This record gives sequence, C-alpha cells and structure tokens, in this order.
Amino acid sequence: MAVSKDQVLAALAKVPSPNGVALPDARVLSDVVVSDGKVFFSLTVDAGAVKAWEPVRKAAEDAVRAISGVQSALVALTAERSGASGGRPQQQVGQSAPRAAHPADKVQPGIPGVDAVIAVASGKGGVGKSTTAVNLALGLRDLGLKVGMLDADIYGPSLPKLLAIREKPQTIGGTRLKPIERYGLTVMSIGFLIDEETPMIWRGPMVMSAITQMLREVEWGKLDVMVVDMPPGTGDAQLTMAQQVPLKGAVIVSTPQDLALIDARRGVAMFKRVNVPVLGVVENMSYFLCPSCGTRSDIFGHGGAQKEAERLGVPFLGEVPLHMTIREKSDAGLPVVATEPDSPHTKIYREIAVKVRDQIKGSARAAPKIVVEA
Ligand SMILES: Nc1ncnc2c1ncn2[C@@H]1O[C@H](COP(=O)(O)OP(=O)(O)OP(=O)(O)O)[C@@H](O)[C@H]1O
Ligand SMILES: [Mg+2]
Repeated sequence: MAVSKDQVLAALAKVPSPNGVALPDARVLSDVVVSDGKVFFSLTVDAGAVKAWEPVRKAAEDAVRAISGVQSALVALTAERSGASGGRPQQQVGQSAPRAAHPADKVQPGIPGVDAVIAVASGKGGVGKSTTAVNLALGLRDLGLKVGMLDADIYGPSLPKLLAIREKPQTIGGTRLKPIERYGLTVMSIGFLIDEETPMIWRGPMVMSAITQMLREVEWGKLDVMVVDMPPGTGDAQLTMAQQVPLKGAVIVSTPQDLALIDARRGVAMFKRVNVPVLGVVENMSYFLCPSCGTRSDIFGHGGAQKEAERLGVPFLGEVPLHMTIREKSDAGLPVVATEPDSPHTKIYREIAVKVRDQIKGSARAAPKIVVEA
C-alpha cells in the first residue's frame, strides 16, 4: 500500500524535539514529500540549535524508515538565522528570503531585459498547466513577441519533455547559464541540469535558491514576456516567485470539475493575497472533441471555470478541449501551436494569447515581427 503523508506525520508525532514538544508541533517541519515510497522533508531550526537537533533529525529519519512501505527517508536539517524563526517553513521561506518584503510593500527588481513575467499556475496538479503554458508561450510568440519560458516546477520539471529538449545549457564565463532555444522560445528548466532519474531532494530553501538562480543567473537576453510554468499548489515555490519576481500577472488553469475549481479558487486567492493580478482562468480539458466525427461532448459538465471566473471577478480566457492530439503532441515534445499552426486547437491557444497579451501590453514591447515556424 502507498505510504501516506498522514502515516509519516503520525510516526513523527512520536519523535520528541529538544524541548520535548512532538516534532509535528515544533514548528520546524517543512512540507512532507512522499513519492513512490521515498520520503523527504526538512527541519528548519535556529542556527544556534543545530547541534541539539541533529539527534532529532536522525530519530525522525529512523521513525519514517520504520513505516512499512517506506523505501528510503531523507530528512535535512536546515539552519535558519535567528530572528527569522516562527511559523512553518512554508512561511519561513518567505520570511527569510533575501527580498522578503510583501510585493505590495516593495517593488522587486526586475530581471534585466525581461519586460513582463507571467505565471501559469493551478491549485491542483495534472490539470494541464504545463501544456497550457507551452502553447500560450507559443501563441504569444505568434503575436510577434519575444518569449521566454521558465520551468519553476523544481519537483517535476516538464519543459524538457514538452519541448523535447535533451541538451544541457552551456555556461557563459563559468557562472551564468545560456538558456536553450526551441521553437523560437528561450527556455530554462532545472530538468536540463538534472537527470530525470535522479531523485529530487529539495527542501524549501533549496527550492527558493534554485528558482532564484534560474531567474537571475541565466542569460535570458531581451524578452517581451517570460512565461513561468509553476508547480501545482500554493506552497514555497509560488510564494518565492511572488516575492522574487515582479509578476505582471498569473493565469490559472483549471479543469471543469468541482474539485479542481475549488483548487483554482485557492490559486486565485493566493495571487490576490500577494497582490499579483490574476489575468484570467483557462478551462482545460473543457469538453471532449471526438477525433473521428468532431462531435463535442461535455463529459465533465463544461463551463464551470467560466462561472467560477465570473464569481471571482477575474477574466475568463478560454476553453481548451480534451483532445488526443493535444496530449500526443504535447507528450512527444511537439506542441500543437508550434507543429500544427492551422489546427483548431492552435486557434484556441492563440485567442487565449491575445487576451493575455492585451492585459500585459502596458509594459511589453510588442514590436510586430514575422515569426518563422521552428
Ligand atoms: N487539453 C488537453 N487534451 C488532452 N490531454 C491534455 C490536455 N491538456 C493536458 N493534457 C495532458 O494531460 C497530462 C497532464 O498535463 P500537464 O503535464 O500539462 O499538467 P500539469 O498541470 O502541468 O501537471 P503537473 O501538476 O504534474 O505539473 C499530460 O499528459 C498532457 O498531455
Ligand atoms: Mg506541469
């Protein structure tokens, strides 16, 4: 049976911290990642208390390893400077970040040469965020914009696969990385640097520094817009993005089912909370378009995302059908907008791109140019 997060937390409840409080209540625990019987998490403690915590880290690791079904457990001990403690690490990441001010309080430095950064996000995984992000980026490219893509999904990067990129980025001057060019997009992903098979052991602060490095230590060049493919959820990475980058806005992807919509609502709320404008909601896998007869069926009760967008007072950007071509092309690294420029799906993504462009064009340099298909 698969190991659950609750099982891990129950095991950790039996591990006392140096002051006697059970570990889950000691306000040091990061999010617990459980994947295929592998468990990772970190304990973020005050730098002065590291020695006292080391046996606890070891005891936590042993307790998790003892759970039936756990193949490996890795518990990292992260030291935090005094004064930044308190709260769960999800919040601590924000509090201890170099530019920790709330976006509303402080204007973050931009990324040199990049006019607008937009995030493509969802509250829930697997709704087609990465697929939407890639095709939206290509749609913006087709509008004559110079577009970059950053894969901020440190745990499960998708861009190497969706854009069929296997090469490694070169370094410039030993320190900066040269992004990869594909289909006219300038692309960077942690997946270019790390093998797909390598287990990813990331804890909050590492997620933050990986994203910061990909934003600031990569030669992005001149971009009208950078599309960021976000990891699902509302955790460390999203907060880091909001704090580290002056996001021009966020696009929320949802499927039409009620449950996904609840998550979409959380996504909208999160960006509003950090004062990042929500550019709108895309309903993905909105309806089923029969590949042989072209008949449309609303298998999930389509239209939920549009209603939700209206309810939340954010724009509705469009609906993308559930279609085998989108899936096959996407998973083969041949995104439809790049490889089937005349298909009806491409038209939909381009229409979404126009709505997004219109909202961000305040700052984007929309010099029209002819784009040659890659
Ligand atoms: N409109 C669509 N029609 C058919 N298949 C789709 C569509 N959109 C996405 N998919 C497929 O659904 C799967 C999940 O999509 P994708 O990886 O883009 O989701 P995600 O939200 O980025 O997932 P994660 O949360 O894991 O990052 C992929 O196999 C993709 O090809
Ligand atoms: Mg994804």
